[in-house]
Amino acid sequence: MTKFPVLTIDGPAGSGKGTIAEYVAQKLGWHILDSGALYRLVAVAAQKKNIGLDNDVALSELAENLDAVFLPCEGGGVEVCLDGDDVTHAIRTEECGCSASQVATNAGVRKALLQRQRNYLVAPGLVADGRDMGTVVFPDAATKVFLTASAEERAKRRFNQLNEKGVDVTLAGLILEIQKRDIRDINRSESPLVAAFDAVTIDTSELSIEQVVAQVLSLVADVSEKNTM
Ligand code: C5P
Repeated sequence: MTKFPVLTIDGPAGSGKGTIAEYVAQKLGWHILDSGALYRLVAVAAQKKNIGLDNDVALSELAENLDAVFLPCEGGGVEVCLDGDDVTHAIRTEECGCSASQVATNAGVRKALLQRQRNYLVAPGLVADGRDMGTVVFPDAATKVFLTASAEERAKRRFNQLNEKGVDVTLAGLILEIQKRDIRDINRSESPLVAAFDAVTIDTSELSIEQVVAQVLSLVADVSEKNTM
């Protein structure tokens, strides 16, 4: 068991992890770890320094020395800074997600980010969002959730988000992009995307955000009730 309670939320791109993690963390008053942002930051840092996405040694060094700051904004959201520059929007592009998933196949990078991720666990508790939170980073977490949804549904959600922001994308293109990322994340040898054996899987395809949040909060409540018995 971890020193403070941890809820891990893993799952493929677009399954709703980030949104659910934010709502649940707010309800519980816990901290949040957006581990995908760390891989995205390594990808941005590599691009800035012209480092190839398969250069494990140079990328590991970058990851080890990553000067990343997450500043909670008033009224929600987080400002992300890399080497003092605001990269909040730069790390959210589809292109950056794709580069991050290439960076994430490097064993040295994953090793370099491991302790940094564990350092996010402070009182009163942590909601950790990613691909390997329940399997590798916090294997002793008390509550583990694995969110899924069909590739079409995930692409549709992303399409709507990007459309709202005025970004010109096609649904077919996004489906292909998501499938490509899934294949890479599931088949890599280092910390592949897989549900922890003790995770509860929730298919969010047909559920509202409120329904998923309620299910996750009830899982957390069950665990804390068991621990106080
Ligand atoms: O979650 P997000 O889409 O921001 O993650 C970007 C990429 O970073 C993922 O496609 C995945 O390859 C990688 N990642 C990972 N392990 C994590 C979080 C993200 O490999 N814990």
